[in-house]
Amino acid sequence: SDVYSSKKDLLSWCRLRGPTCAVIAYKCPHIKVTIVDLNEIRIAAWNSNNLPIYEPGLDEIVFACRGRNLFFTTEVEQAVIEADLIFVSVNTPTKKVGMGAGYAADLAYVESATRQIAEVARSSKIVVEKSTVPCRTAESMRTILEANSRDDIRFDILSNPEFLAEGTAINDLLHPDRVLIGGLQTPEGRRAQEALVEIYAQWVPTDKIITTNLWSSELSKLAANALLAQRISSINALSAICEATGADIDEVAYACGRDSRIGPKFLKASVGFGGSCFQKDILNLVYLSEQLNLPEVAAYWKQVVDLNEYQKKRFVSCIIKTLFNTITNKRIAVLGFAFKKDTGDTRESAAITLCKDFIQENAQVRIYDPKVTDEQIFLDLSEPGVLDNTKSLKKRVTIARSAYEASENADAIVIATEWDEFKVLDYEKIYEKMHKPAFIFDGRLIIDAERLRSIGFRVHTIGKAS
Ligand code: UGA
Repeated sequence: SDVYSSKKDLLSWCRLRGPTCAVIAYKCPHIKVTIVDLNEIRIAAWNSNNLPIYEPGLDEIVFACRGRNLFFTTEVEQAVIEADLIFVSVNTPTKKVGMGAGYAADLAYVESATRQIAEVARSSKIVVEKSTVPCRTAESMRTILEANSRDDIRFDILSNPEFLAEGTAINDLLHPDRVLIGGLQTPEGRRAQEALVEIYAQWVPTDKIITTNLWSSELSKLAANALLAQRISSINALSAICEATGADIDEVAYACGRDSRIGPKFLKASVGFGGSCFQKDILNLVYLSEQLNLPEVAAYWKQVVDLNEYQKKRFVSCIIKTLFNTITNKRIAVLGFAFKKDTGDTRESAAITLCKDFIQENAQVRIYDPKVTDEQIFLDLSEPGVLDNTKSLKKRVTIARSAYEASENADAIVIATEWDEFKVLDYEKIYEKMHKPAFIFDGRLIIDAERLRSIGFRVHTIGKAS
């Protein structure tokens, strides 16, 4: 069962953990999986034909198991009482106030979920920490559980971080590179580890199931995300050099990636990484390093996030400079608002930063994204500090139903998300209806710049000289 105890930001739980539990139910018909959430609306959505998140392949899996061995309910206590193994998948947002504000994870939900388990359990449980948490959280969970356990009940703690990425969640779960299970290296701890290994072994080859100690498992989650994000910041730093010299970042990435020690993946230059995990996890690592009195280590990882902010600002500056140093009242079509393709998730999306900057420069912004709702876009843009209410925002920002509609009468197109459909647009038709000179700024390196230039576009691509 999944224990969820926050009323706020239920999305992160839904996006990453919902698919995990659904796949376990799908692959293990002999196991009853119950997903619990205090939010009735969300549970109702999971029980309806319109699931609360979009993820390719998710519908099929949920519809195949729901009512068979996969259940969604708000009856938290009952589910905890019945379960032998409990995944604690609660939200761990970055703290907004207090000690470590802006960096540290808020563990209040982890703690309250743990306390609730201790309170209602009537039999022994294996409690699996699945939220991304700073190292040694499992220790706190263990202390709480042990302090509250009775003679006849034992709690074993495991750490089982999730490595799936959004948009490919189901495939990542069905064919993971590895599954990581950390446990205490005691006979009981190892037995608990074995119990979870047995579940994954139903569909994951055993050589891909890694068992480690608890702290290695917790740190590996933060480390993997930091290393992935570091690759993007590294390639983005090089993209600036390419633009200034005439080197081509795609060629550089390809040439470097062919070295088998470097490898070809995750070297795509972009307007900057987004998503709910990279920035948050790196800042967590930064905070942890500082707590451990390792300021040089903290500064090292912080630079990965700083470079990402720089990359977004650099892109905006290039756009303003190219549009004759002003975008006041110019029409900018922003194609894509999600933080990557194949998801409707906008958390930390580079598009948000870009649009906010355009609005501040008094441009007219027209946004199109195939999966993000209008409400979400206005919510993301109307944070305090830019424009305080949606009404004034709506004077500057409109939402289009297609890329064609967005670019009509526009001065410039800005590609912010790499949706496949943007590669195959009828750019002749788009060019016809734009103001001239018609500019296109590719923040995702997905268009054929030469072909677009032959149509008449002025093209700027990250990491390539114009
Ligand atoms: C990331 C990790 O990839 C997962 O392994 C991890 O489990 C997950 O975080 C998590 O901690 O839950 P996710 O944030 O869903 O997954 O998406 P990614 O595919 O990693 O993309 C993150 C951002 O980097 C996106 O904005 C993407 O466009 C950008 N990116 C990715 C690049 O700019 N260049 C690349 O070469 C790759």
